[in-house]
Amino acid sequence: LGGGVLAVAGCGSLGAETAGRKLASTLPLPAPFAVPLPIPAVARPVRPGFYEVVQRPAKVEIVPGTTTEVWGFDGTFPGPTFDLRRGSRTVVRVRNELPVPTSTHLHGGVTPADSDGYPTDLVVAAGRGFRPTGGHSHAGMRVDPDQWTFHSGAREYVYPLEQRAATLWYHDHRMDFTGPQVWRGLAGFLLVRDDEDDALPLPKGDRDIPLMICDRAFDEDGAFRYPSLDPSLLVRAGVDDAYMEGVEGDVILVNGAPWPELEVDAARYRLRLLNASNARRYRLELHPGGRFVQVGSDAGLLAAPVEHDAITMAPAERFDVVVDFSAYPVGSRVTLVNTLGAGPARDVMRFRVARRAADDSAVPARLSRLEPVDRTAAVATRVFDFRKSGQWAGAWTINGKPFTPGTPLVRPRLGTTEVWRLTSDFHHPVHVHLAHFRVLTRNGKAPAATDGGWKDTVDLRPYEVIEVLVRFEGYRGRYMMHCHNLEHEDMAMMADIEVV
Ligand code: C2O
Ligand code: CU
Repeated sequence: LGGGVLAVAGCGSLGAETAGRKLASTLPLPAPFAVPLPIPAVARPVRPGFYEVVQRPAKVEIVPGTTTEVWGFDGTFPGPTFDLRRGSRTVVRVRNELPVPTSTHLHGGVTPADSDGYPTDLVVAAGRGFRPTGGHSHAGMRVDPDQWTFHSGAREYVYPLEQRAATLWYHDHRMDFTGPQVWRGLAGFLLVRDDEDDALPLPKGDRDIPLMICDRAFDEDGAFRYPSLDPSLLVRAGVDDAYMEGVEGDVILVNGAPWPELEVDAARYRLRLLNASNARRYRLELHPGGRFVQVGSDAGLLAAPVEHDAITMAPAERFDVVVDFSAYPVGSRVTLVNTLGAGPARDVMRFRVARRAADDSAVPARLSRLEPVDRTAAVATRVFDFRKSGQWAGAWTINGKPFTPGTPLVRPRLGTTEVWRLTSDFHHPVHVHLAHFRVLTRNGKAPAATDGGWKDTVDLRPYEVIEVLVRFEGYRGRYMMHCHNLEHEDMAMMADIEVV
């Protein structure tokens, strides 16, 4: 397997379980577990149903004693958490004060097509011109000039939120530059809540915590380190292999803090895990032992809880889990580790069990009603092959084609269900906008224990075949599917889907 990956991806040190190119920080690494876990601020509406956020640069202290410039929603990284209810139509006005154009996508959101954050539908800071670089993507592909749209200063995104309670997230989606722009901080949570979820006795309030896990590397002056920010690493008609594989850093951040610590009661906690990394995959475990009880997946509650000793998480996946810290003596230190990571990237964060406490939460044996997965309902079966291009320098392709805005690869009908068969040459976390799906099979066998529930992203590994049942509901129009390794996405591994 490793040899095949090497031959295809052209990279020296790639193991079967890692996905990207590791960047080393030149800044001395901070001590682990020295910073308390930050909880992102909750966004406050300007008036009911209407929010305003500003994308702007800000100087923040991530590594203690140093300053890092982030590009953040409201100048924070992560951005504010939108805590919203199912069916509460929400308008978010995004104002761009950054030196670059942006497009904001609500990942997992069921949104009208023109609010989806299409990569060439851009907001440009007021007074700042933008000419697409020669009408080409940096993978060397031509983009039809009339595919670009620009909003000057700000624009509104409409989120009807007619969808189940779920842990969603929003992030930049600019054509060719999603990787560097998310790396600089343009990402945050949007939580959808509903009566069904509220009625369950799961941990609530201070014991319901979103955890955005991502990796970064730092320069000695505290700046984020990223290869495409360094023009010497770009080569003509593409970029070097370091960039091609996907970028990984050696510092693990949770909610924007390096290897933080959270003081917890000896009680159950609901942890909403999000892998917001550009390319890094994680296998999360609790040391010195412990279990995750999964209650939800990308798109909401599971039918019944599933216990895991370890959770493998590809970029953009979410796992909603309950961890019972009353299983540890008061005073214990419980580390969330990444057993795919080497060196400092092996630790993620630590929990310190501080005190005994009352706990009336529970994980019920039944969580939600999920319709049975019925593949006979599918009106079409399609194959999507995720592969490095042999033809276009520096591009990743879907079915041999690099991303071509305005040329849909598939036109599913609204209200129908299809079987999609996904095949690959590498680690490609496959993400579909708008539509949610169920994993039917993995390599001809039953799905993995971590594939359960409704999902929007699936961890497709080298040479695997995954079948998913995709349901097209919501809205007609142009959406997309793509690899959520953000460097692969930027290197053309994307396609239009037109829901008709
Ligand atoms: Cu999370 Cu198209 O992206
Ligand atoms: Cu990929």
